[in-house]
Amino acid sequence: MSSTFLAVGNCGLYLEQGDITRSETDAVVNAANSGLRGGGGVDGAIHRAGGPEIMAECRQIIRQIGFLPPGQAVRTGGGRLPAQHVIHTVGPVWQGGHASEAEQLASCYRTSLDIARTWQCRSVAFPSISTGVYGYPLAQAAPVALRAVTADLRRQQAPDKVIFFLFDDRSYSAYAQALEQLAAETDT
Ligand code: APR
Repeated sequence: MSSTFLAVGNCGLYLEQGDITRSETDAVVNAANSGLRGGGGVDGAIHRAGGPEIMAECRQIIRQIGFLPPGQAVRTGGGRLPAQHVIHTVGPVWQGGHASEAEQLASCYRTSLDIARTWQCRSVAFPSISTGVYGYPLAQAAPVALRAVTADLRRQQAPDKVIFFLFDDRSYSAYAQALEQLAAETDT
């Protein structure tokens, strides 16, 4: 287990390798689909570990709003997870990079952090949104994700702690490299 850290004002951004369902942050973010139907990847893991309460709330939300567009986010309880809240967001499906994918991906992180602040979460865990089934290249997604989060933390100064849970070595390395680059730019 290795970790990396960047201070953003009074907030801290951390990279960790591991399973987000074990995160003890106040909220965890789910890389969901527009129907909040559950699926594989991190979505499947969150619903398996959190139990059926989370899906019941997702169904209720979809009955109210129809579908959740890419870049948007909604909140449910955490069920049996250690986290009290799950923030479900829908990343863009990679289509080559000219279909506003970067804007939509950045919006996932911003809207999720907005919801976290609304619920007074002091700590939030993110997965690497869109880089699994949705096919967003890791080397391009990592800087978009980290820039969106650091810019938002700089403006809002909350939540205190944001952790990226990177599941595999490849994801962890891509984010560690992007964070190093971002830190170097911030220093200059
Ligand atoms: N903890 C942290 N990260 C995880 C976990 C976990 N338990 N399980 C998988 N991941 C990682 C994947 O390895 C990948 O790096 O999350 C990243 C995002 O991959 P996906 O879960 O496939 O998410 P995404 O690319 O956004 O695709 C969303 O997949 O499962 C479906 O319902 C979901 O349709 C939606 C689509």
